Amino acid sequence: MKRPDLVSVKPLLDGSLPQVYIETYGCQMNVNDSEVVLSILQGAGYSLCGEIGKADLILVNTCSIRDNAEQRVLGRLDVFRQEKLKRKGIVVGVLGCMAERMKEDLLKNPAVDIVAGPDAYRDLPRLVAAVKSDGKQINTILSHEETYADIAPVRMDQNGVSAYISIMRGCNNVCSYCIVPYVRGAERSRDPRSIVKEAETLIQNGYMEINLLGQNVDSYLWEDPVAPSEKVNFARLLEMVAQIDSKVRVRFSTSHPKDMSDAVLHTMSGYPNICSHIHLPVQSGSNEMLEKMNRKYTREGYLERIAKIREILPDCAVTTDVIVGFCGESEEDYAKTISLFEEVKYDGAYMFYYSERPGTKASRHFKDDVPLDVKTERLNGIIALQNRHSLENNQKCVGHRYEVLIEGTSKRSDAELVGRTPQNKTCVFPAKGHKAGEYVTVEVLSCTSATLISEIVD
Ligand code: 5AD
Ligand code: SF4
Repeated sequence: MKRPDLVSVKPLLDGSLPQVYIETYGCQMNVNDSEVVLSILQGAGYSLCGEIGKADLILVNTCSIRDNAEQRVLGRLDVFRQEKLKRKGIVVGVLGCMAERMKEDLLKNPAVDIVAGPDAYRDLPRLVAAVKSDGKQINTILSHEETYADIAPVRMDQNGVSAYISIMRGCNNVCSYCIVPYVRGAERSRDPRSIVKEAETLIQNGYMEINLLGQNVDSYLWEDPVAPSEKVNFARLLEMVAQIDSKVRVRFSTSHPKDMSDAVLHTMSGYPNICSHIHLPVQSGSNEMLEKMNRKYTREGYLERIAKIREILPDCAVTTDVIVGFCGESEEDYAKTISLFEEVKYDGAYMFYYSERPGTKASRHFKDDVPLDVKTERLNGIIALQNRHSLENNQKCVGHRYEVLIEGTSKRSDAELVGRTPQNKTCVFPAKGHKAGEYVTVEVLSCTSATLISEIVD
């Protein structure tokens, strides 16, 4: 069967071409989307530049997940506005989730020439050209089909070791607090052949780790349009990617507790190159809150999934996302989240206080009634607890050996390298002549809550 052609993964840096500068906020999916955008713009004759001061086109790829993410971007737009006043003729585009959520309101901002939602990136060359002749442009049409499957993302990061591949777009879950389904549209899975091809291209270009991305990877399901009985689910896709090269690591996120199947866990246990780490957002330990959040699982159901992970993958790290201060959250509800954290003892967590997002189910049906000082206090409480757990879990690694994929030099010193264990724990160790992209075995000597301080043993 014909595979889409995927080409170069490296940015073109040519000062004689029109220059595009891209700034990215939000999740890993957004990082990957910016790589798709760069690919499209390179196809339209642009070259990447690292400075606003040299750009002909400034793009900001945005996040709407919490109010503070949006506020940061609005602050950046003021900076871009100053640049436009200094240099006439430069074009500024707002991409991604904020573009989709705020639409024409963003277009009114004097800094903004283009507003393009997450499914409108193929239209960017036309939009940029139209600004010159017709003024401000907007495209926020969401698609049921767009997966950018045939576009080879141009990797902007310089590490050259680890890359993201989006396997699906959108989300059908409608958690009551979440803006994602509104700004990223309906869930759609990408052709597995294009995913495998993209992974192969990355590997040919020296990449050693593939991160499969989706809002809910467990609901990945692709049906061949010409042979609808041929279906590929996430467990199968994971296997297909893991089989490409046993020396290349495979990671994935995000899993959803209501959909994470035993089949995925068995696939992980069958392929040593699939990393032992699952990111399994819990959001709350209180069944009342989970119900209001429309998460479609209970505390007990979640803990059963954790037990299954530990049974099938005993050395698997588990991390989570949690929201405190959701609508109506009582001290008892919060205590249940704390007790769930005590029970699971996560290896890491992204912790947030609830931020009401306009248009979501929660904003329409529930009152955002936990005062900010209580939200902050609860957030600080859970952060302190998680820091303790991260430290305790890391302390258990001291004296043990891990295979680490080196990602680069440490921020502190060129003589030290940084890499991660399969469990996604960051290790720092003296270089001993090794370099990014290599595997080494390290022994952990000591730790902080964030880092395993190690040395290479072979
Ligand atoms: N307020 C706070 N946190 C949120 N998240 C999603 N929506 C909100 C919101 N309205 C968090 C969830 C999700 C992570 C990506 O962001 O924990 O898993
Ligand atoms: Fe990513 Fe969600 Fe933020 Fe959009 S709103 S950038 S999908 S985290």
